[in-house]
Parts: sequence; C-alpha cells; structure tokens
Amino acid sequence: MSPPILPGATIGILGSGQLGRMLAQAARRMGYRVETLSPGTDTPTGQIAERELVADYDDLDAIAAFARDVDVVTFEFENVASAATEVAARHAPVRPRGEVLHITQNRLREKRALAAAGLPTAPFEAVDDRQGLAVAVSRIGTPCILKTAGFGYDGKGQVRLDADTDLEWAWRSIGDGPAVLEGLVDFEAELSVVAARGLDGGLVDFGLIENRHANHILDVSIADMPVGEAQTDRAREIAATIMEQLDVVGVLCVELFLTRGGELLVNELAPRPHNSGHLTIEACPSSQFDQQLRAVCGLPLGETTRKAPVAMANLLGDLWEGGEPDWAAALADPAVNLHLYGKAAARPGRKMGHLTAFGDHRDDAMRRVVAARSALKAE
Ligand SMILES: Nc1ncnc2c1ncn2[C@@H]1O[C@H](COP(=O)(O)OP(=O)(O)O)[C@@H](O)[C@H]1O
Ligand SMILES: [Mg+2]
Repeated sequence: MSPPILPGATIGILGSGQLGRMLAQAARRMGYRVETLSPGTDTPTGQIAERELVADYDDLDAIAAFARDVDVVTFEFENVASAATEVAARHAPVRPRGEVLHITQNRLREKRALAAAGLPTAPFEAVDDRQGLAVAVSRIGTPCILKTAGFGYDGKGQVRLDADTDLEWAWRSIGDGPAVLEGLVDFEAELSVVAARGLDGGLVDFGLIENRHANHILDVSIADMPVGEAQTDRAREIAATIMEQLDVVGVLCVELFLTRGGELLVNELAPRPHNSGHLTIEACPSSQFDQQLRAVCGLPLGETTRKAPVAMANLLGDLWEGGEPDWAAALADPAVNLHLYGKAAARPGRKMGHLTAFGDHRDDAMRRVVAARSALKAE
C-alpha cells in the first residue's frame, strides 16, 4: 500500500462547488494545502483553496499541470471525462479512481453495475431512440420515469410518463439522447447511506438518513431513520457491496427508496460526499468531508457516531427573492448552525447554503431546522 499523504501535502479538487468548499475547509483545518480546477473564478471552493486554476475539464494540458502540482486528485464534480482522469492519474493518485466516475456518471452503466453486484433497483430499460421508448414503456408499464442517461441532477433531465402521456413530447423534452426508463416506485420514504472506504479497504458509514424533496431538489434531511435494525444492516451491506465491487477509495452515497413493502431499492449513487450528509459536519466527530480527506490521503477513517438527533434544511436561491434573508432570526434558536457557500448570485433553485439543527429527538430537530428557515423570510 502506498504511504499516507500527510498534512502539508496538497489536495487537488476537480470541481469548485460547495462540496469542494467543505472538503477544502476540512483539509485546511488539518493543515493541507488545497488547489481546485474548474472553469469558474471566485468559486465556493476557490475562496477556501490556496490556488484556483481556471480551465475546462476537457483541457488535458491544464489537467496534467494541475495533477503534477498536487499530491492526490479527488473531485466534487462527477462529470469529468475518462480522458481527463486518465491524464491526471499519470501524475498523481486519483481517488476514487476514474472508472468509478465513468460508471456513476451514466445512469445506464450505474444500473448495470448494480445489477451485476446483485443489488435491487426499480425495473429499468435502456432507451436509445423514440421507437425504443414505445417498446420500453410497453415492458415497464406506466407510471414510469424517463431519465437522460448522463448529466442529470436535481431532477433535471427527467419526465414522468402516465398512460396518456404523449411519447413524442416526452422524448423531445429530455433532449433526444440515450436514456433510461424506470418503473415509478411507490415509496414510503427516500433514504441515503453515506459511507467511506479507506485505502486499506476499511469501511465506515453514517447510518440511514431520511431525505425529503421539494420540486425534485433535496429539501430536508433527518438523521436516524426509525427503521428496524435489519433494514439499517441491509442498507450498510448495500453500501459496502458497492464500494467493494467498484473498489472505491473515498466517500460514496447510496440513494435508496424504502418501498411500502419494506424493501430497499437503490435509486442512484454519488461517488463523493452528498447533500444529505452535510449534517455530519456538526453531528459527527468526523464529517463526511473529514472522511473523504482521510480516505483519499490513505489515513485511518474517523468516528461516525452521531452526538445528538439532527436535521438539515437546504437554502435555495428563492429565499433571496424578497431581499437578504434574516440571518439573525434563523440563529435565534441556539441549536441552529448556518452554512453559506459564497455564491454571489442567488438564482431560484440554486443551492446557496444550508442550516443544521440539533433537537431532543428527530422530529424536534426537523421542526427546529424548518422553523429557522421560515424565520429567514419573515418580515
Ligand atoms: N423510479 C422512481 N420512482 C419514484 N420516484 C423517483 C424515481 N426516480 C426518481 N424519483 C424521484 O425523483 C428524484 C430525483 O431523481 P434521481 O434519480 O435521484 O435524480 P437526480 O440525479 O436528479 O437526483 C428522486 O429523489 C425521487 O424523489
Ligand atoms: Mg438523486
């Protein structure tokens, strides 16, 4: 096994959003240097990093120069092409490896990898063209969801199909490219498991987190989903199987559906820290970002036990519509913490920050975080 990458070394982050920012904060706290590469300037990650390189993800010369300059390359942006991760890997270890990105950035490859690992998903069919869509709909049945195979996030590139939906319109509305058709899951809840795997194969996870969405964007996450031990164990086992099969070094989030029958189905994978894991920053001795740092540096992983019941609420750009939110009002509850990502423009739907709140029990934590967010807009 290669020796650990120690404090003083430089962490290279491909991508420059809030996930990179929180990784950079964890890294700088532990005495690492941070460089980020993305097409943007004054980015959430760049504001924390020592160095912000501005280049496109397909500028292979820039990627090579970046990788030469750092001690390990990791990423917060998933849609980096294999050519770029291959070039980077010639100059520095890339963790997780490029193949993991390649699989998870495409829903079809991801679903096939899950099926190969024997893990349950919603029924799905590959769709290559408009004719293929009709065939797939007849196999899966309605209601179902058509998703672009690549570049989807926050519900973008998805459309629900019912018995009377015009297939021509549906196909055009997702942009006429390779797609996946999935059966609609009648779920009881949406859950996630954020797990980390070290260079030595050691695994830790943060347990089952419940995720509630609004307009297909994560709205609130609550730790400690009250399900039986068997389900928690099953979710852990799913995460472990994926990480071992894909040989992931780093953090990976498994998004799950809990069906009304009590079964866990894998929705999608993110080979990096996840929005639902932000509550680990306050709630756990080692956050998901600490774990990512430790894992990619080949260090031992940290403790994940939660200190208290906790919930997280996202702050979207919509909150700025009536002017600057009332931060003091949200912080009137001492159990609430504020995170802002340093984004200048507050567009509707854009993730600008989040709030975390502790509570006496999970419902109390959830109530407090939602109340704090509502206080932001009250006049
Ligand atoms: N097969 C499905 N059945 C029911 N709901 C779904 C299904 N697929 C997606 N959704 C809903 O849409 C949300 C976003 O879909 P997801 O595949 O996670 O894409 P994204 O990359 O946008 O997060 C999910 O969190 C869930 O609420
Ligand atoms: Mg998702």
